[in-house]
Amino acid sequence: MGRQAMLNVYEAVTSRRAVRGFTDRHVPREVLERVLSAAAWSPSGSNLQPWHAYVLTGGPLAELKKRAGARVVAGDPWDEREYEMYPPELKSPYRERRSAFGQERYSALGIAREDWEARQRAASANWDCFGAPAALFCYIDRDMGRPQWADVGMYLQTVMLLFRAEGLHSCPQMAWSVYRKTVAEVLSPPDGLVLFCGMSIGFEDVTVGYVRTGRAPLAETVTFVDG
Ligand SMILES: Cc1cc2nc3c(=O)[nH]c(=O)nc-3n(C[C@H](O)[C@H](O)[C@H](O)COP(=O)(O)O)c2cc1C
Repeated sequence: MGRQAMLNVYEAVTSRRAVRGFTDRHVPREVLERVLSAAAWSPSGSNLQPWHAYVLTGGPLAELKKRAGARVVAGDPWDEREYEMYPPELKSPYRERRSAFGQERYSALGIAREDWEARQRAASANWDCFGAPAALFCYIDRDMGRPQWADVGMYLQTVMLLFRAEGLHSCPQMAWSVYRKTVAEVLSPPDGLVLFCGMSIGFEDVTVGYVRTGRAPLAETVTFVDG
């Protein structure tokens, strides 16, 4: 392994994607520590550093995967939400972007749009962290507001880019919030923290097919106001 010396920031940004197939190759503790030490330099309003990250590998991660998998098999209902993942009515253009993403994601797996069961099966790979041997769970204090949630997002992106510099890939996973109680059983976080998301971490299994997600044209999301 070793750091990819030639990976510049642009390459880290454009080579990052939500990887949903990992090999079981071990991720060394020193790499995890190096990445998380550097990511601590992420910016945050008034330097609050509102992120609380838990990193799981080995037995504890296997236990979490087992417990989550058992809940799926048992048809256990999801835990009540601590935050809404999306607005209940997604308006345009977000609605179209979400449906384009679903198309890309499931067509890569050869799953038809209306095959709800196959989609559920594919989604349940979340609970195996897509085979990853390491995972990060990011919490935030319940008292924190929207600016601090944005800080946490910046932190997580920094973590993901640094993993690219280490030759690793990742997949952020809000899905874990629906099994947050199971995550808490394994991690025992202090009271008062809300689980924002998990993140699978590892080496990509290049045999797993994917379709690269697209992006809106620049003019849809950026306005230049020139003098
Ligand atoms: C906060 C956050 C939560 C996400 N949650 C999930 C998830 O639970 N499961 C999943 O497979 N992908 C998840 N994703 C990945 C997104 O689907 C992905 O980032 C998006 O479609 C863009 O694709 P790309 O990351 O491959 O460029 C999440 C991404 C973010 C930023």
